[in-house]
Amino acid sequence: MTTVTPAMSPPDPSTTARLLELKNVDAGYGPFRSLFDVSLAVSPGSVTALLGANGAGKTTVARVATGLVRPTAGEVWFAGNRIDAMKPYEIARLGVVHAPEGRSVFASLSVKENLELSFRRELGRAGAGDALGRAYELFPRLGERSKQVAGTLSGGEQRMLSLARVMVTHPKLLVADELSLGLAPIVVDEVYEHLAAIRGAGTAILLVEQYVGHALAISDAVVVLNHGAVVHRGPATTFDDIAEHLL
Ligand SMILES: Nc1ncnc2c1ncn2[C@@H]1O[C@H](COP(=O)(O)OP(=O)(O)OP(=O)(O)O)[C@@H](O)[C@H]1O
Ligand SMILES: [Mg+2]
Repeated sequence: MTTVTPAMSPPDPSTTARLLELKNVDAGYGPFRSLFDVSLAVSPGSVTALLGANGAGKTTVARVATGLVRPTAGEVWFAGNRIDAMKPYEIARLGVVHAPEGRSVFASLSVKENLELSFRRELGRAGAGDALGRAYELFPRLGERSKQVAGTLSGGEQRMLSLARVMVTHPKLLVADELSLGLAPIVVDEVYEHLAAIRGAGTAILLVEQYVGHALAISDAVVVLNHGAVVHRGPATTFDDIAEHLL
């Protein structure tokens, strides 16, 4: 009896290993165009740093990936779904969490209420209680301050609050926009330790960052934007390798 071994063809790199993919995306705000033919991909479980000067279009890419800005041309895919016409909450349900630029908590709600809101949205009422306990285990400081109004937390504590929901709900992708902006260096280190743990738990990250050194240290790949266009794409190596593209 002969055994027939099926011919193994190599995986098609255009269809495998892409969790998030922007293909030739143009986007903007009203008549103002912010992104020009942007293509980039994030593989499952990996970290892609999105770098570039102020106004380069990084936040706009983050908004396109999470449905807050709709592209005027091109396609956006996530985990096999075309998402560029989907609403932000539909994209969130597929497993995308957005930690937006700035202070992204509900300022007038307590720490506990902020956490419960996102856990209920992402896990349903039944799962929310357990999730709260896990969040306080991971971030004891949030437990100590559970009744404090989130708007009065320090900048670093507010970022912890954003990250707590990611670490507990294990999304497929975290889109993190300048999590370290305005934080003291020691707090930035703490934020990056949490990002490493998030990555360790299997969540891919699209990491928008100004601190290039920190971003490269945790990233597998790097994409550099300049005036709304991709000017460099490659493995995350050293600052020297990408410095010329950041100018
Ligand atoms: N809501 C908006 N309305 C009009 N123009 C906008 C809006 N948001 C951003 N832009 C413009 O789009 C361009 C890209 O902005 P974007 O916020 O994506 O840049 P960025 O790379 O995130 O910059 P930064 O590092 O300063 O956060 C900029 O020229 C900006 O002025
Ligand atoms: Mg920005």
